[in-house]
Amino acid sequence: MPAEILTDAFFDSFDTSLLGLDAAETLPPACYTDASFYEFEKEALFNHEWLCVGRADWVKQPGDYFTTQIVGEPIVVAHARDGVIRAMSSVCQHRAMLVAEGKGNTRGFVCPYHHWVYGLDGKLVNAPAMERTCDFDKKAVRLPEFKVEIWLGFIFINFDANAAPLAPRLATVEQAVAGYDLANAVQAMPLITGQFAWNWKVMFENNNDGYHASKLHQGPLHDFVPSELATFPSSEPTDAGFLRFNATTHPDASFNPTQKAVLPVFPNLSEADRGRMTFANVPPTLSLVLSSDVAIYLILRATGPETMEQDTGILVAPGTHDEPGFQDRLDMIMTSAGKIIAQDMHVDGLVQVGLRSRFAPRGRYSWQEGAQGQFNHWLVPRYRAAWAARKTSAAPVQKSSVKVA
Ligand code: FES
Ligand SMILES: [Fe+2]
Repeated sequence: MPAEILTDAFFDSFDTSLLGLDAAETLPPACYTDASFYEFEKEALFNHEWLCVGRADWVKQPGDYFTTQIVGEPIVVAHARDGVIRAMSSVCQHRAMLVAEGKGNTRGFVCPYHHWVYGLDGKLVNAPAMERTCDFDKKAVRLPEFKVEIWLGFIFINFDANAAPLAPRLATVEQAVAGYDLANAVQAMPLITGQFAWNWKVMFENNNDGYHASKLHQGPLHDFVPSELATFPSSEPTDAGFLRFNATTHPDASFNPTQKAVLPVFPNLSEADRGRMTFANVPPTLSLVLSSDVAIYLILRATGPETMEQDTGILVAPGTHDEPGFQDRLDMIMTSAGKIIAQDMHVDGLVQVGLRSRFAPRGRYSWQEGAQGQFNHWLVPRYRAAWAARKTSAAPVQKSSVKVA
């Protein structure tokens, strides 16, 4: 049986991941592979952090809803008649069937099993043949509700009812991406959802890695975003997200064979915005890849220690759909992006294989991996706080504090 990895020594070993990038080491490989560490991460991260689940325009009309899952929790997000977008557990409070699947528009959620009916606000409104059940108060039953915050059109939820608001801790990121007006940007095409056989952090680290750009993606589809032009604005420990600016060799660069924007440029971009690509990460679920004509968003959902799902969405400036040749131009971008993404996926899959090996390293970083350092500075304090809390709650009760009634 493998030894328990969650020990003081294990968490002490994270010290070297917090050093300056010139001295730092990667996290222990077990953080990417170990089932007990994944369970620990649920408490350390997923149960308390803001998690992106979708876009507000997926539930534009009253009655619109969509479902999702993260770390094994089934969730329904619904736009109720009172105009409020709510996120709730979709687990029926009778015998745990899921009350909603997929997406759509509805007046309420009828559990298919025994037809308990919940309103769009999650309240139980009908429960057939329950009149002989003692002390059953329909009004006391509802789908458990989660905190919701909408940031730049992205719906975030939080399982922790006491979580501090997200937006104030994203002020730096928000300022950096302001020119894209993401709250009003429109979906260019249906979402692409995929399942992947690697840890969510492998994907997250790949999404904002400046180092591999000129190596793995070497060639005309990517060379205009060279690794040596990556910069990493500093972030505060309290920040909920971090950035990479990657200057481009010409303005309005875009991932397509012309290397230039082929769709209308977001109208409020500054000259500085147009001379670079902006990458933003809001761990543990949202990555943004912003160029002058398309804003790519990636919603990551951990599903296990070595598995995850990801939604890939493309946003464009309002009105872009009416441009002549819109679909053909979008296809140009998607074909190029598809080739680049395939290179990333190949690496992500084999990195996971490598991380499982007994020869997996605590590696060293290049200066072009600033975002990995910032990610470690986001992760490690949260890991340590949760480990300290677990030890406190597991501590034996002191004899002197035991009172016998
Ligand atoms: S499990 Fe939903 S009504 Fe019985
Ligand atoms: Fe890449």
